[in-house]
Amino acid sequence: MWSNSSTRPIVDSFERCTDPVALNQWHPLSAVAELRRGVTYQTLLLGEPLGYGIDDAGEPVVWPAKALHLPAGSPLPATPPAGLPTQVSYGYLWTTLGDPQPLFAIPEADEPDRRVLNAATIGIATSAPRAVENFLDMGHFPFVHAGVLGAEPHTEVVDYRVDVVDGEVWATGCRFPQPKAAPGSSASAMTDYTYRVPHPYCTILYKSCPFDESRRDVIGLFLQPMGEEAVRANMLLCVVDPISTDTEIRRFQLGIFSQDKPILENQVPRRLPLSPIAETPIRADKSAIAYRRWLSEMGLTYGVIPAADGAA
Ligand SMILES: [Fe+2]
Repeated sequence: MWSNSSTRPIVDSFERCTDPVALNQWHPLSAVAELRRGVTYQTLLLGEPLGYGIDDAGEPVVWPAKALHLPAGSPLPATPPAGLPTQVSYGYLWTTLGDPQPLFAIPEADEPDRRVLNAATIGIATSAPRAVENFLDMGHFPFVHAGVLGAEPHTEVVDYRVDVVDGEVWATGCRFPQPKAAPGSSASAMTDYTYRVPHPYCTILYKSCPFDESRRDVIGLFLQPMGEEAVRANMLLCVVDPISTDTEIRRFQLGIFSQDKPILENQVPRRLPLSPIAETPIRADKSAIAYRRWLSEMGLTYGVIPAADGAA
């Protein structure tokens, strides 16, 4: 019902967002490399049906479907009514329904030898904050990604630091023993992680690079909130890997992603509870606790159960 590529009109069954925090953000709609020029695509953003595409000159165009409804696959209109702000960053088309600050920076994406590509985009029936929190959680590696990102009996998450720096959540000093940390890994390795949350629905991971000890691979998870409990999850890779093919890199990440999808879809409630007492904290959840507090303090209500609603 909420596929981006469906030729059926999108059923307008999602409540429109009224949360200014969510409205005043940049949100990703699609990897630009996956769009055909001059063709209309449809999607939902925060419950709002949108048309979008890349015009023949390579410029992004996004508009509210209520201003002009075109079936997916139609020729892209030259100047759609009520066109929305757009930008192309890190290979994705971003738009906004509000008045956002500039999008967060990823300086590594400009390094000439980095492979920068969209590893995968998948629909997940969960909220964007649940998906961010799952990405931050190392505790699930040995169980959900057994033999790849973790393995029993090495299940302990060693202590790490969490700070809010310049308005972003940073978790540093994270370490986890991984059987196969990246597609180019030849052996099991202790992998260093740094997590960053610069946006309520986007998170970035910096992890040991198997090809260059002095650098970190960068992996971004950028959620498009279609509704409060439905996202399209885009995984950006920005890696130093002179060997693997794009297909190998994508297959590796898609394998991990598809292990997370059913776990996320089975989590109840789908919206993330922000009350400190809603779900029992353990040490592995330190970054999750900081993320929830950070969302509470910014006043986000879309995709979460605010503390005031959930507190006893
Ligand atoms: Fe996972």
